[in-house]
Formats: sequence, structure tokens, C-alpha cells
Amino acid sequence: MTCCDPPPRSYADFQSFLTAYRKSCALMTAHELGIFKILAKGPKNAGKLCLETGMDISYGTRFLDTLHHLGLLDKQEDMVELSPFSRRFLCEKSEEYQGRSLDFEKRLIESWQQLLATLCRGKRVYGTGKKSPDEYKKALAAYLGAMDDAARIRARELWDRIKPGDYGVILDAGAGSGAFLIEFMGRHPRWKGVFCDLPDVVNRAVSNPVFSPFMDRMDFKAVNFLDDTTCLDVVRADIILCSNLVHCQGFEETEGLLSRLVEALSKQGVLIIHDFLKNHGTRGALYDLHMMLNTYNGRTYTTDELRTMVNLEFHHVLTLPSGSCALFFSNRDSMSEFFV
Ligand SMILES: C[S@@+](CC[C@H](N)C(=O)[O-])C[C@H]1O[C@@H](n2cnc3c(N)ncnc32)[C@H](O)[C@@H]1O
Repeated sequence: MTCCDPPPRSYADFQSFLTAYRKSCALMTAHELGIFKILAKGPKNAGKLCLETGMDISYGTRFLDTLHHLGLLDKQEDMVELSPFSRRFLCEKSEEYQGRSLDFEKRLIESWQQLLATLCRGKRVYGTGKKSPDEYKKALAAYLGAMDDAARIRARELWDRIKPGDYGVILDAGAGSGAFLIEFMGRHPRWKGVFCDLPDVVNRAVSNPVFSPFMDRMDFKAVNFLDDTTCLDVVRADIILCSNLVHCQGFEETEGLLSRLVEALSKQGVLIIHDFLKNHGTRGALYDLHMMLNTYNGRTYTTDELRTMVNLEFHHVLTLPSGSCALFFSNRDSMSEFFV
């Protein structure tokens, strides 16, 4: 069995490992300088852009040249402008804007700098201090914002592949920003939605205007899936989505959480686990370390581990275009009509 497909072999592969941080550093710095924000208003003379962002003109021009060679900017003589890629992901007006992911990633880099200390201590080192209520509120908003940037894109990728039928109830377990639910509800006007998350997240969601168009067919439930799911007693959902939730905690807790979700599923219902899998590419493997650094006992799982935890028939795993995976579990007779 190979470690990943394709396994690294060449000196170029070694170089990629060694210098992977450089691209990220250039992107984050350009974002921090406000380059994409300024250029969203239109092309600009490179020297003027250096002055406006506080860069030294000579060094700054070299930096802009590099961003051009990386495909983040287009350049015509002395004028620079956003490239199609930047227009799509780095321009505030774009539906796929990733600004909150970029802001949040800055903190995540700090956590990765604690990898060695974390491995030696055998427990989380980064971000363990107590937060004031205000710090906690800000941290929660930043976390949910970054989740939302990614989820809006992955939600389209997932729901593009599903044909759920005309009506039913979908329960989103650990809904976060609600991006998956909103995308689903927008596509399927006769479905009802149940937004479930920890109380602080639900409190934010109920007053979020993004849910306004769906309020007449939505329910919000504050629930901790690690113990109390009594509020789900009456729900018999046709689809339960469990997106990026299983990686938040350890094996035993995840097993309990999944069994509680299966109880809330209708007989013909489908459980979808969407996450990074440990055995699916380098991203899933790295995500395991990411959870080690940033959670108390979170981790990623392999397909087989998740299969043993869910007491339903496993159908298949779908790899989404941006690299995460969706696993489908159901006891219904046929799943073929469930997929596009
Ligand atoms: C990584 S976010 C994923 C959000 C969303 N599902 C997505 O894919 O973008 C995990 C979400 O699960 C919620 N969560 C974590 N542990 C939970 C628990 N024990 N009970 C209920 N919700 C939980 C968090 O509050 C957060 O909103």
C-alpha cells in the first residue's frame, strides 16, 4: 500500500515539501497589505499601489511582480490588476470570496508553530488559555466566518451531486454558519430544515438575516451531541448531514454522536458524513495534525473507522472537487435514485 497517490519521488517533490510556506506567505501578506481590496476597484499603477499600501517602491514592485508570476495579479507594463483567480476568491464582491478564511488562517499558522511542543507534550499546547467573554465572542465569529467561506463552496459541490426527492426533512448536525442548509433549502423549496448546534452557535444563527427566506420551514435546536439529544426525540429526518463534525472529538465520543444521529433518522433516511478522511489524500492526513494542534482530542478518521461506527448500510464515498469527502449511509432499498 502506498502512503498517498502519487507518492513523492523526485527532487521537485522534495522542494515542494521544503518551501510550501512561501506561496502561502506571499498570499497572506498581499491580503494583509490590502492589495486585493484596492485592486478590486480597478487596475492601478504599480508604484502608486506600493505607496498606497506602505511598501517601499523598489521592494514592493518586486513583490507585485512575484504575485503576477504566481497568477494572483495580471500586469501590463506598469499597471497591475486582479487576475481571474483573484477576482474569484480574493475580491470582496465575489460570492466565493475567502477573506475570512485568510484572516483565520493567520491564527492557524501560529498553532502549527507549536507542532513540536505538542508532539512532545502529548496534548494540545496552542490556545489553551481562558478567553474573556468578549475574546470568546470574537473567536467564535472568526471561526464561523472562516467555516462559512469554505462551506458555501463545498455545499454547492455536495448538493450538485444529490437528488433528494420533492419533500422531506433535513437535519444539519453541527450546522455552524448554516451554509450547507441554506444552499439545500434554496434548491429544494418543499423541504424543511433543522439547524442543530451548540447553544452559542444557535443563538447567533436565529438572528442571522441569511435564514430569513427560510424561516417558515426551519427549526433551530440547541443541542450538545456528546450527551443531550432529547430535543431531537420527535425529529425523524430524511437526510442528516454531519459535516465537519466527526473530526471535532475522539473515537468514543464520535461513535456515541453518530449513534444518536442514527436515532433521529427516518427508516428510509440517509446519513451523510462530510469531512476530510485520513485515508483520502494528503489533506486528510494533514487535517489530523490540524485537529491535534487545535482541539482537545479531535482527529480525522478513515473510511473503515467511520463504517464501523455507523449502524447503517454503507453505500459509497464521494470525493468533492475541492478534496473533502462525503460518505453515504442508509438502510433504504435503493440509493441509485438519490444521486444525480
Ligand atoms: C467545523 S464546524 C462545521 C460547521 C459546518 N457543518 C460546516 O461543515 O461548515 C463544527 C460545528 O460543529 C459544532 N459542534 C461541535 N461539537 C458539537 C457538539 N458536541 N454538539 C453540537 N454541535 C457541535 C460546532 O459548534 C461547529 O459549529
